[in-house]
Amino acid sequence: MLNTLFIAIVLCIIHIILGQSDIQYLIFEGGGPDEGPGPNQTLNIASLKRTFGEINPTAQRMYAYGKQQMRFLTRSNAFVRSELETAFTLAENTNTPLFIHIDPIYGWGADEENSTADAPTIKYWNNETMREWIEFPLNKSQLPNRIPRTWFNWGSWCSPSSAFPAIGAPNFINFSAIQFNESIAKPLAQWIIKLNKENKSYLFAGINIGWETNILNYRQIDPTHLPTAVWPVNSRNITMQQWEAGAQLGYASLYWQGWTEEKLIIEAQHRNITRDVLFNLLCYEIIHNYLEVLAKVCYDNNISRERIFTHIVPMASVDASRIDTTVPPIWTAVNSYSIPGFTMDNRGAAIYNLTELKYQITIVDPSQSHFAVSESYLFNYGDEESMRDNLNEAFNNGGLIKAIYGALPFSSEDPQPAGAIKAIQQWLNTNHTLILK
Ligand SMILES: *[C@@H]1O[C@H](CO)[C@@H](O)[C@H](O)[C@H]1NC(C)=O
Ligand SMILES: *[C@@H]1O[C@H](CO)[C@@H](O)[C@H](O)[C@H]1NC(C)=O
Ligand SMILES: *[C@@H]1O[C@H](CO)[C@@H](O)[C@H](O)[C@H]1NC(C)=O
Ligand SMILES: *[C@@H]1O[C@H](CO)[C@@H](O)[C@H](O)[C@H]1NC(C)=O
Ligand SMILES: *[C@@H]1O[C@H](CO)[C@@H](O)[C@H](O)[C@H]1NC(C)=O
Ligand SMILES: *[C@@H]1O[C@H](CO)[C@@H](O)[C@H](O)[C@H]1NC(C)=O
Ligand SMILES: *[C@@H]1O[C@H](CO)[C@@H](O)[C@H](O)[C@H]1NC(C)=O
Ligand SMILES: *[C@@H]1O[C@H](CO)[C@@H](O)[C@H](O)[C@H]1NC(C)=O
Ligand SMILES: *[C@@H]1O[C@H](CO)[C@@H](O)[C@H](O)[C@H]1NC(C)=O
Ligand SMILES: *[C@@H]1O[C@H](CO)[C@@H](O)[C@H](O)[C@H]1NC(C)=O
Ligand SMILES: *[C@@H]1O[C@H](CO)[C@@H](O)[C@H](O)[C@H]1NC(C)=O
Ligand SMILES: *[C@@H]1O[C@H](CO)[C@@H](O)[C@H](O)[C@H]1NC(C)=O
Repeated sequence: MLNTLFIAIVLCIIHIILGQSDIQYLIFEGGGPDEGPGPNQTLNIASLKRTFGEINPTAQRMYAYGKQQMRFLTRSNAFVRSELETAFTLAENTNTPLFIHIDPIYGWGADEENSTADAPTIKYWNNETMREWIEFPLNKSQLPNRIPRTWFNWGSWCSPSSAFPAIGAPNFINFSAIQFNESIAKPLAQWIIKLNKENKSYLFAGINIGWETNILNYRQIDPTHLPTAVWPVNSRNITMQQWEAGAQLGYASLYWQGWTEEKLIIEAQHRNITRDVLFNLLCYEIIHNYLEVLAKVCYDNNISRERIFTHIVPMASVDASRIDTTVPPIWTAVNSYSIPGFTMDNRGAAIYNLTELKYQITIVDPSQSHFAVSESYLFNYGDEESMRDNLNEAFNNGGLIKAIYGALPFSSEDPQPAGAIKAIQQWLNTNHTLILK
């Protein structure tokens, strides 16, 4: 009896100390690959309320709506800031927590702005010091003239920009960090201060600063069957070039860090590893550092580490032989300014071993007991039992958030999976037990 009372008091104190940071959020995101101006969030929020009821400000579990694909690399700061302000206002007016997700690598919306005022100050895809190559330059005065497009397959082929950013190049990192700070992190920090004053800090569910962050390669492409872009609509007449098939990107990132082919070979010999192993290792460090830079921009604005999330694919936790620059090692997602996050779908392509994944996180950061499901899907989890198990697996093992993509709107054209919805309703209505560290 006394024990129970004591535990209750301790839990109560912990709840007060942690404030809102112990809320678990289930995030619903709408939209497809080429979201354009975005889904109608008013309708999305209305369907969330209809399905799950109003948000209880004292609850320990909440749903949130996701503002996706914030295009800070392909739009002006003013444009992005204005989209963000709209999202803040909607969250406050509807009392619905907001989750933010950025596009840090793909370049969705490149060259699709409606006016020059909406364009970024620098278009990285046109800047010779900020875009990727598939080879080193022959010499300093002759940079490569073959610039690979951004290509990836999300069920359909996507090619949103005419170049992939050199995420290890100092000029690009500097541009990206300043652009991200001015358009998103700074206004977000101001909003969080406002929410705190209003006792509504629960309305900020978090920010994902990655998006399966990786350095692309086109190794699997058969040069006799070159893909043609399906998304975005403006790229639909574009087919991959013969010379892009089989290519590895990353050379510009390495070059602008001071690497050449000769230096790579000498350093590889020095480390007693192959040149290709060293190349990949340097790319993994670049992926890690780019995630860290964007997380730190948020952290330096006093945004809590528990609300900043990274995002890579998780397959390295299942099969180390699959690791390459598109399937980076788990440690690339771990840094001191954020919670490591992953796409997680054991019934799809993003397969993971949670035990191994958590183990690999703690090798890098022994104090890190949390992780995030930065991307998942309703698809394949439509029945009640599947969704219940899926939610319990994440949230009973240190998961802070779980984002579900393509989940909204719950419209008549896109019927709700009734079993999954029931499991989510039950999850929302159950208070989670605080786990003592
Ligand atoms: C979203 O839908 C609501 C309700 O139908 C409508 O009033 C509103 O104008 C729409 N918003 C946008 C941005 O299309
Ligand atoms: C640009 O203009 C088109 C056509 O007028 C409109 O449909 C689209 O929403 C606009 N895009 C942005 C980003 O404002
Ligand atoms: C590319 O970006 C760098 C760094 O911001 C800048 O110094 C340079 O002038 C840019 N090049 C072009 C062609 O705009
Ligand atoms: C750089 O390489 C190009 C192409 O091979 C050649 O034409 C040029 O003379 C070289 N420049 C220098 C400074 O070596
Ligand atoms: C970063 O970019 C800004 C704006 O383009 C520029 O003023 C500054 O010198 C750059 N800093 C570095 C370290 O490149
Ligand atoms: C972001 O803005 C904050 C606040 O103005 C500033 O302290 C910080 O240096 C900026 N960071 C970058 C990377 O520009
Ligand atoms: C916020 O909560 C504190 C402490 O419970 C209370 O004193 C204050 O009046 C509240 N502020 C607002 C704006 O509700
Ligand atoms: C695709 O079409 C647009 C305009 O319709 C044109 O500007 C562009 O050059 C075309 N691209 C290719 C690769 O043919
Ligand atoms: C270099 O690595 C190989 C195996 O990868 C090993 O057999 C060899 O002993 C290593 N050489 C040195 C000097 O460490
Ligand atoms: C963050 O908080 C610290 C300590 O309260 C303060 O000194 C600093 O100015 C804040 N930074 C920003 C960018 O708000
Ligand atoms: C998952 O990883 C753990 C730890 O590495 C291992 O013991 C276990 O066998 C793995 N599970 C499966 C299903 O492979
Ligand atoms: C969960 O706990 C909070 C207080 O921490 C309380 O306000 C809320 O009603 C509880 N919810 C349920 C479903 O028990």
